[in-house]
Amino acid sequence: MSILIQNGRIITSVGEQNADLLVVDDKISAIGSNLEVKADITIDASGMLVMPGGVDPHVHLHLPTPAGYSADDFVSGSIAALMGGTTTIIDFVTPIRGQSIVDALKARIDEAVNALTDYTFHVSPVEWYKDMPKDIEHCIEMGFPSFKIYMAYKNSVGIDDTTLYHVMHTVAKNGGLVTAHCELGDDIETLRDFYVGQGLSTPKYHMLSRPPRFEALAVKRAIDLADQTQCPLYIVHVSAAESVKHIIQAQKSGQPLYAETCPQYLLLDESLYDKDIPTALKYVISPPLRSATDRETLWNAITNGNIQTVGTDHCPFNLEQKMVGKDDFRKVPNGAGGIEHRLSLLYTYGVLPGKLSPSKMVDVFATQPAKIFGLYPQKGELGIGSDADIVIWNPNAKGTISANNHHSKADINIYEGFETIGNAAFVIKNGTIALENGKFNTALPQGKLIKRRPARTTSHYYKRMDNPDSYNCGRT
Ligand code: URP
Ligand code: ZN
Ligand code: ZN
Repeated sequence: MSILIQNGRIITSVGEQNADLLVVDDKISAIGSNLEVKADITIDASGMLVMPGGVDPHVHLHLPTPAGYSADDFVSGSIAALMGGTTTIIDFVTPIRGQSIVDALKARIDEAVNALTDYTFHVSPVEWYKDMPKDIEHCIEMGFPSFKIYMAYKNSVGIDDTTLYHVMHTVAKNGGLVTAHCELGDDIETLRDFYVGQGLSTPKYHMLSRPPRFEALAVKRAIDLADQTQCPLYIVHVSAAESVKHIIQAQKSGQPLYAETCPQYLLLDESLYDKDIPTALKYVISPPLRSATDRETLWNAITNGNIQTVGTDHCPFNLEQKMVGKDDFRKVPNGAGGIEHRLSLLYTYGVLPGKLSPSKMVDVFATQPAKIFGLYPQKGELGIGSDADIVIWNPNAKGTISANNHHSKADINIYEGFETIGNAAFVIKNGTIALENGKFNTALPQGKLIKRRPARTTSHYYKRMDNPDSYNCGRT
């Protein structure tokens, strides 16, 4: 099976060119001007952008919470991802206390088997136990070299600094990487209980009990522990300008440190917590939404290369689930959807106003997540031999985001009413057309479980750079 994409504008993380691209079976086999080949399918991509399929480094599908599972399972979540140009997702393995990370990983692999994107996992140690060093090594050998820890959520999955130290030390020894949700968990619990004790229990107090300072101090602590243990570190969903200061400082010193933000932190404002309760509940996410100054700092940090990736933290709930906490914000399941909208939001609100170049958009959307997490150049690249995961982007299509037309199963959307320009006209996944002019291919084969290489064989093996100014934030 072959597909010839003709006359498109090929965008990669390092540049742009007008060229044709040939897919043979599940790989990209040629890129060049006027390719003279006969293919089974020819797509005229005149006026369109041709980009690598997205890699979403931060996705929670079928996540159990006290308010029930998050709204998307691996089927609906991966369809929504593909509709928006994302072809690979990285979800999480979260053991219940007492369960080994290896057992949890095996169970999670079974749960994800019907995903239609390709998929892989970060593994979350939620406690320390005797065999943890051996189990971390085992997960890495199995092809899962990234580990996610939570400094928040102290009542469920959050760990203390001693455990974090041991996790980082062990992961580093085995060539892996730690990703961290950075918020001061104990301080948040104190403030939450304090507010509710005063009768202050509306969604706004979710935001007020998680100030930017708590994120920034946790970022600083995680950076220090990573430095002590020589562990490469990736900070997830950075939302606060104060956090960015610590990130820049550590990167300047040559520490291998990567950072992610999400469209919600680039585009939505903390004033949304002042809306009526059912509306404000939609925005109960952690970290919470911030100010215009924070947003501006995040956009600049992307431009300057201090934030390398934009993930979604896709974790949607239905309104009924959110309403569980209408009288007590502590009971609201944290999270919101967005897996489908990452590219259209980056294009509309990043590229079109000139905040991001098209290449930078590709970099944060696909190439850097692939590089940092050991998927490159199989994923995140339009190169000969790379997987044929391709988005053909119509830069003129207009749309309005709504729960009425999104592909997530959630009945609410935090971007409700957002106008977008550009959409995926075609999405090709492993050489098969997944989406063609708005129509999803219902015969699309299941996605593949992707096993990854340990960090020590990729760019971020811990090594302080002699000349910090040449530190390249993960570029290889
Ligand atoms: O509110 C959020 N972000 N929920 C998902 C879990 C997490 O913290 O990433
Ligand atoms: Zn988180
Ligand atoms: Zn998350």
